[in-house]
Amino acid sequence: MEATTFILFGATGDLAKRKIYPALYNLYLDGKLPKAFSVFGLGRRELTGDAFRANVEQSLRNFSRREANDTASVRQFLDAFRYSVLDIGRTEDYLKLLRLVEQREQELGAAPNRMFYLSVGPEFFETIADNIKASGLGSADGWKRLMIEKPFGHDLQSARDLNRNLSRAFEEDEVFRIDHYLGKPMVQKLEILQSSNPVLQTLWTNRHIANVQITANETVGVEERAGYYDHVGAVRDMFQNHMLQLLMMLAIHLPNNHSTSDEVRTKKKKVMEALMPVLKEDVARSIIRGQYAEGEINGKPVVGYTSEPGIAENSANDTFIAAKLEIDDYFWRGVPFYIRTGKRMKEKSTRIVIEFKEPLNQHALTEEESRVPNLLVFEISPNEGITLQLNTRDPLHKGEFKPMHIDFHTSQEDVPEAYENLIHDALNGDPTFFAHWDEVELAWKWVQPVLDAFQENLVPLRTYAAGSYGPVESDELLERDGFRWRFDS
Ligand code: BG6
Repeated sequence: MEATTFILFGATGDLAKRKIYPALYNLYLDGKLPKAFSVFGLGRRELTGDAFRANVEQSLRNFSRREANDTASVRQFLDAFRYSVLDIGRTEDYLKLLRLVEQREQELGAAPNRMFYLSVGPEFFETIADNIKASGLGSADGWKRLMIEKPFGHDLQSARDLNRNLSRAFEEDEVFRIDHYLGKPMVQKLEILQSSNPVLQTLWTNRHIANVQITANETVGVEERAGYYDHVGAVRDMFQNHMLQLLMMLAIHLPNNHSTSDEVRTKKKKVMEALMPVLKEDVARSIIRGQYAEGEINGKPVVGYTSEPGIAENSANDTFIAAKLEIDDYFWRGVPFYIRTGKRMKEKSTRIVIEFKEPLNQHALTEEESRVPNLLVFEISPNEGITLQLNTRDPLHKGEFKPMHIDFHTSQEDVPEAYENLIHDALNGDPTFFAHWDEVELAWKWVQPVLDAFQENLVPLRTYAAGSYGPVESDELLERDGFRWRFDS
């Protein structure tokens, strides 16, 4: 792997502590970092190099998936870390940083390949990108890459503005837009499972699939993020990005198991282009908008959304979205894709359920039996696994008709964190599991009428008890088509 200087804006922030340092450490343990590798942590706060390294060490102890007990290897890992004070708006600070970075690259005899990771609010992206360009930090002989994380804009227009402004300093192929759902190992496996297994490939069409259900439920509420969340809601926080990315990854058809990142991204774009648009006036028919009321999570009472600290009493923000989408192409025409995501739901679970059409040979079964479909389930998190539900008879119980589950589950310790996969791919320059601008723009295009309809109150805000599976209207969305959410207990 090529020598790299990893330049981290927001080095004292929460994301860095919880995700980025532990991810780098686990990559280091796996021998997946470049030999010549330096990290420049940047922040507004004055901090000595030692104090910074002590903070990083603490974050490994608190959040690393593998224990950070081996002092020698932790020391060696921390050797790569430097800290520099930087005020995002001050050009001189970037020039000073450039000198430090160049000096370090010379010490290591390393090529000037620079990864800029912006772990800061999106309002700073453009200023930082412009300063990287103006200072010369981004114009060395090596490569430069930019890693940024959602939100990419607040709506279609602001996303376009942001992208145009970023493109003053970085080309599209230098921008690695993180959607951490694309870093989840099971999501990364979807394409290979489908493209390298003829059994699945054959089934992956409207001939055999009755519907697809994509769920990302969380038990947490708004947490300490009222200021952010109350302005974005579930539709921008989860639906526009993570949920549509899951839909794309599930729906693409790849010709073989050697697809390039270009092929994967082109196919994803095709899926988005084929997604039937929804008119503002029709949004209420296919989208359920919900907000949690008080209830119980794991036996403990919790308050409703509008009683959360920092949330206005009359907030009409959505904490739950259920939607029916259709892809109008050769493979998927007529197959509803149901998507749902919510906070304060009964359980934490991200999964995709594929429900197959009724058995061809219905005469062999009673009416009740024929209503039990074959299901294929991809458990994405917190547990990773695949389950296939088949029908059989139970010889121990008078040959009673019984669905059986064929389960495969990965042991949790073996599953790398999304950020490990993503940082590793970005260091290698592999953009497959990053959101291309075309996907982001098409996703905003699809969502914009939904935002407008919410804004104009064209979609009723339904409430649901914390600890439930969302508003009853979400169940009705499927019942209308003769289906139901699978695996709600
Ligand atoms: C983030 C959202 O992108 O994803 C959060 O901003 C949400 O609101 C989180 O809690 C969920 O991620 P995960 O990996 O826990 O499913």
